[in-house]
Amino acid sequence: MVARVIAKELRANPNLVLGLATGGTMESVYKLLVEMHRTEGLDFSLCRTFNLDEYVGLPPDNEGSYRFYMNHHLFHHVNIDLRNTHVPDGMASDLAASCRQYEETIVKMGGIDLQLLGIGRDGHIGFNEPLSALRSRTRAKALSPATIAQNVRYFDGDRSRMPKRALTMGVGTILDSKRCIMLAIGEEKADVIAKAVEGPITGMISASALQLHSHCTIVVDGDASLKLKEVDYYRWIFDNEPEWQEFHKPHA
Ligand code: F6R
Repeated sequence: MVARVIAKELRANPNLVLGLATGGTMESVYKLLVEMHRTEGLDFSLCRTFNLDEYVGLPPDNEGSYRFYMNHHLFHHVNIDLRNTHVPDGMASDLAASCRQYEETIVKMGGIDLQLLGIGRDGHIGFNEPLSALRSRTRAKALSPATIAQNVRYFDGDRSRMPKRALTMGVGTILDSKRCIMLAIGEEKADVIAKAVEGPITGMISASALQLHSHCTIVVDGDASLKLKEVDYYRWIFDNEPEWQEFHKPHA
């Protein structure tokens, strides 16, 4: 469904400014987008992209870097112009200046039209770890022990190879996007989804700040929804809002 929402927005606006996330959850989304490019001619030629985050100290050809991930899962398989793809520069000699420039480039492109998000087990969006300021902008952050435990699998389980810092769009940057869509899959996300969706807005769970966003959709599978209290209400909305009618088809 997330890939279908992106495709719909891209068809309506070929110049779309898309905010992108990485991680295991997004792999299925990118696989479907690549498939739609191949079978339905989904056109990325004018699309601009901004990734949420990148590890500090990993060059683009390092398999653990998010530039590598994006090339591997999406960019190299669709007709996007690589010059229109932006990932924070974790190798910059002046990280703060590079982050400022990232924010400026987003503004220059007219802002992010659609921001794709995953959620970390500690509630992060991007790499906005617990107690990130709700108005934060792109900057370097130390990764939390929970995030290191979550992502060390991408470094063959070797903590010494995993960077301890990353550049990330801020919570404020994400809240400035015109629309956002967050995807969570699996029981390991059930607790944090319940906190983010039904709990109070708190810096301890950065994703809870999405409650402040005027056009945010959260998509979960059955397992990730297990701890939500108001699932019947969410189903009712999904079944009755015209916006979602076309997504009721099983394949969507
Ligand atoms: C990565 C990012 C992170 C991930 C989150 C979930 O660019 O922004 O917030 O979306 O850590 O990761 P997975 O999908 O691997 O569970």
